[in-house]
Amino acid sequence: MNDQPTTKWIGQPLDRVDGPAKVTGAATYSADYRGDQQAAIGFIVEATIGSGKVSQIETADAEAADGVHLVMTHQNAPEQAPFGDNADAGRFGMSHAVLQNDEVRYYGAPVAFIVADTLEQARHAAGLIKVTYQADGSVFDAFEHEDDAFAPDSLDGAEEADVDKGDFDAVFAESAETLDATFHTAAQHAAAMEPHATVAEWDGDKLTVHIAVQILSSARKAFANTLKIDPANVRIVTPFVGGGFGSKLGVHSEGVLAALAARKLQRPVRIAQTRRHVFSNGPHRTNHRQRIRLGASADGKLLSVAHETLGAMSRDYPFAEAAASPTMASYAAEAMKIRHRVVAANIPHVDSMRAPGEAIGTLTYESAIDELAVQCGIDPLEFRLKNEPEQEPASGKEFSTRTLARCLREGAELFGWEKGPVKPGASREGRLLIGRGLATAIRPNMMQPAEAAAELDRDGRLSVELDMTDIGTGTYTILTQIAAETLGLDPNAIAVRLGDTDYPKTCGSGGSFGAGSTGTAVSKACALIRDTIIERAARLDSDWAGVNSGDLRIENGNAVVAGRSLALGSILDAIGGDSFKGKGQVEPGKAHEDLAQYSYGGVFAEVSVNADTGEIRVRRLAGAFDAGRILNEKTARSQLMGGMIFGLGAALMEESLMDMRFGSFMNRDLAEYHIAVNRDVPRLEVKMLDTFDQNSNPLGSKGIGELGICGTGPAIANAVYAATGYRTRKFPIHLEDLLDHLPAL
Ligand code: MOS
Repeated sequence: MNDQPTTKWIGQPLDRVDGPAKVTGAATYSADYRGDQQAAIGFIVEATIGSGKVSQIETADAEAADGVHLVMTHQNAPEQAPFGDNADAGRFGMSHAVLQNDEVRYYGAPVAFIVADTLEQARHAAGLIKVTYQADGSVFDAFEHEDDAFAPDSLDGAEEADVDKGDFDAVFAESAETLDATFHTAAQHAAAMEPHATVAEWDGDKLTVHIAVQILSSARKAFANTLKIDPANVRIVTPFVGGGFGSKLGVHSEGVLAALAARKLQRPVRIAQTRRHVFSNGPHRTNHRQRIRLGASADGKLLSVAHETLGAMSRDYPFAEAAASPTMASYAAEAMKIRHRVVAANIPHVDSMRAPGEAIGTLTYESAIDELAVQCGIDPLEFRLKNEPEQEPASGKEFSTRTLARCLREGAELFGWEKGPVKPGASREGRLLIGRGLATAIRPNMMQPAEAAAELDRDGRLSVELDMTDIGTGTYTILTQIAAETLGLDPNAIAVRLGDTDYPKTCGSGGSFGAGSTGTAVSKACALIRDTIIERAARLDSDWAGVNSGDLRIENGNAVVAGRSLALGSILDAIGGDSFKGKGQVEPGKAHEDLAQYSYGGVFAEVSVNADTGEIRVRRLAGAFDAGRILNEKTARSQLMGGMIFGLGAALMEESLMDMRFGSFMNRDLAEYHIAVNRDVPRLEVKMLDTFDQNSNPLGSKGIGELGICGTGPAIANAVYAATGYRTRKFPIHLEDLLDHLPAL
């Protein structure tokens, strides 16, 4: 860890620069886009079987309905590359063909696409389509088909599905204290406020897609691969995204349908998925069974750890979640056995969602660790501190920084943790049982390739362009701050432009790598301009020779350094140009390969459980987090608070329920898919350590977006245990799970 450099803009709680545009409605989300030509409106007709074939589809009534321009089915859809083709482009960039044949891959898959003048007409016509199916033998329930489980080739969040360190069986057998616990975590949907939405328009053979996605470059590949066209003919435009949480990492059926229909009709086509459609034509997190075995010495030293997970992978869509990822990173243990297994199932696409791996992995592992601490008769905070590793437990890699213990201690202080073994049910207020719990938050820190272009004009106005997205996280704002810092420029003189594949290519938003990766590219682009100015100024005026480039400020169109000032215009006139231009580029280097890099946190919760009804209320949440250098105190805090709220939802509310007879989700709206609302969320206390990790990137920052969700769920679950003396091992925890286990008062 290194000292923080002194800064003027980086770290400041600058208000969102795009805030006024958002609150006045000037910010155009994908479905808000209006071009010269009025768009026709699309509506998806979903399959009502989970697996099989469309044997007959009657479209005549829909075609004859008012306002309908197109009814597209597998019988008349344009040819596309088969779904999954060009797998080299990864799951986000491979072919996402729709309506390519009579096969139904999952319940809710599009079987027809209606395009009409208005949404009402399209929706009405959708109801006139008659489909006959031939269902076949299908797999919906991964656990019923466990015999067919396999180790996924690629895993999100871990290099290998299997990890073995030492001899787990032998060490576990000799451990004085052991735990063997099987947990169930729920299927979930990202439930972003903005649904998946697209406006597609063609100009000759050039396609422009206004689509709600987190990563533009892979979306471009997906359209090019699916439609078999040159990527250079695909432009993706996404200036604003109303929440992603992983669900918009890739493109979905509505985007491809809109592009196909727009080409057929030779006019723009707009579609926003309905909330119900998002639950099948958007991705979800699948439910998992996780068996955790832990062994410790009598005095609470963790010796053996096994974490075995089983979940579904949707057929033909290669994604599996590394639920044991936090297990491999949190505590020292001489023996470790990790197994990730999946079963291919005919279900809607399973994909990344909010801290893939850690969100559901800390939920179970931190519950198990807590249970073992109690079993050993050791304060759960002490137990965690006692098992701090020197190196990354599974790999033996050195850590770039390791501040987990500090986070746990500072979190404990913030919360007022009272040490001592838990005595469940000991704390009461009337008929409320009060419990307190804690958990570790840990999340890998990543960097991805990114480029950025910056241009400073003679009046001292800077524009910055890159195909990064702002998914509500504050990207516009932090990139403005980074540019302001690098050039000594007022943020009001800076225009950051994002969300267009015409701009330099970036990694987009995902995996909490966006800010550090693209921020570094922006800072390098601006540094290049700064160095050019100083070098050129020195040619005009020898006084400028040897000035420290970090001291440069751009003020009122002048380059200014301690007592020296030169008009940008005079420098440009001497060069013969209109502006200074800089490009910045970043790639993950050796420090990301060789070192184990993480963001950390210690999260504490207090809950009450009603002794009569089992109702759980979270009364307090407090967390101390280290995500390296904080780029904006306000947006970083918001990220952590939002994450903690999702953690609360994972512990107590969020659950997508599948009807296993059909492979269909049943609670497909926000009335029945419960996310935490204001009334559910207590006072959130957030402390940020604000450190600096030069191994992460030159800015010293680390991933923060997904950190808050990690640890919060299990802190709540551990508090529920402390209140009641009962662990359900099933998430979310429902009050009916507790009812039979509440202590008699
Ligand atoms: Mo994140 S689940 O990689 O958007």
